[in-house]
Amino acid sequence: MKERIESLKKEFEQKLSQVRELQNLEDLRLSFMSKKGAIQDLMKELSRIPNEQKKEAGAMINSFKQEVTARFEEKKEELNRAAEKLLIESTESYDESMPSDLLCGSYHPITLVQRELEDIFESMGFDVEDYKEIVTDFECFEAVNIPKFHPARDMQDTYYISAKNQLLKSHTSAAQNAILRKYGDRLKKEGRPIRAVFPGRCFRNEAIDASHENTFFQMEGVMVDKDISISNLIYFMKTMLSEVFGREVTVRLRPGFFPFVEPGFELDIQCLNCGGSGCPTCKNSGWLELCPCGMIHPNVLKLGGINTDEDLFEYTGFAFGLGLTRLAMMKYGVSDIRVFNEGDLSALCQFVSK
Ligand code: DAH
Repeated sequence: MKERIESLKKEFEQKLSQVRELQNLEDLRLSFMSKKGAIQDLMKELSRIPNEQKKEAGAMINSFKQEVTARFEEKKEELNRAAEKLLIESTESYDESMPSDLLCGSYHPITLVQRELEDIFESMGFDVEDYKEIVTDFECFEAVNIPKFHPARDMQDTYYISAKNQLLKSHTSAAQNAILRKYGDRLKKEGRPIRAVFPGRCFRNEAIDASHENTFFQMEGVMVDKDISISNLIYFMKTMLSEVFGREVTVRLRPGFFPFVEPGFELDIQCLNCGGSGCPTCKNSGWLELCPCGMIHPNVLKLGGINTDEDLFEYTGFAFGLGLTRLAMMKYGVSDIRVFNEGDLSALCQFVSK
């Protein structure tokens, strides 16, 4: 019996070493372990051997059976692992004959600029907020001091939706009211200033050309606290823009009219191309118009639940509306805004994050 088992062991090991697939492994298992398998044959033999040898022979058969089962499980696991590895490798493989422009995956340039700005603002203690694309007339206009029938509405050619006084948001300022309401309590109870940016897609009925699109991106920002003044606005904008452009920028403010700020400004930065001496990029003026901003109008703060009629100036703040699309054009030297919405991969794949 002992020799018989030894030779079966050898046979099993030899066959096992040749197995490459799970199906073959199962066949091998059956040839040893099934009712018609080799181990069953040994059991039959056991009944024929003398009684005094039965105990020892039975134990040998048992331990052989256990060994076969253990080796079988080991091999099964090994084959499974190999199959998994093969699967992973084959999924990651790619077709080298495929045109390269269909293979490249990259973030949209506006996403890249947006994320970079979000990081900068977060590092300055700002909360980053998301907002809807369909908003009410109240959110987009009335809450930011543009009453119904006010001529300031003509500054933006808005897409109105017939149902329920809604429209496609024409500027990110449409989220100001919600943000003021969201963080107002915290400001009053804990004295933590409101600092938030909210990027978003905006829509206006523009005649499309190289510098106008009906769909574009802005990033709005607000800061509200006690005693916020224009000096805070200037300092903050300068620091933030120096971060964005990766070097010290010089800024200037010109008066600008926006109903939701008083006073309102157009913020320019000194031309990064010529340093202010005048070149085609800045149309020889030495300055680039970058970001409208201003001190938040008392009506907006009141409608946002920040100040009451008793003290319209208890809290003050500034707001700004960065044109993300314009910033992306400046940063990447894109001269035609339509590139961003056309979905042309050969153009869009050229932008990669740093
Ligand atoms: N919402 C304005 C627009 O799209 C931009 C703007 C101007 C935003 C001044 C502001 C601001 O927050 O203070 O034309």
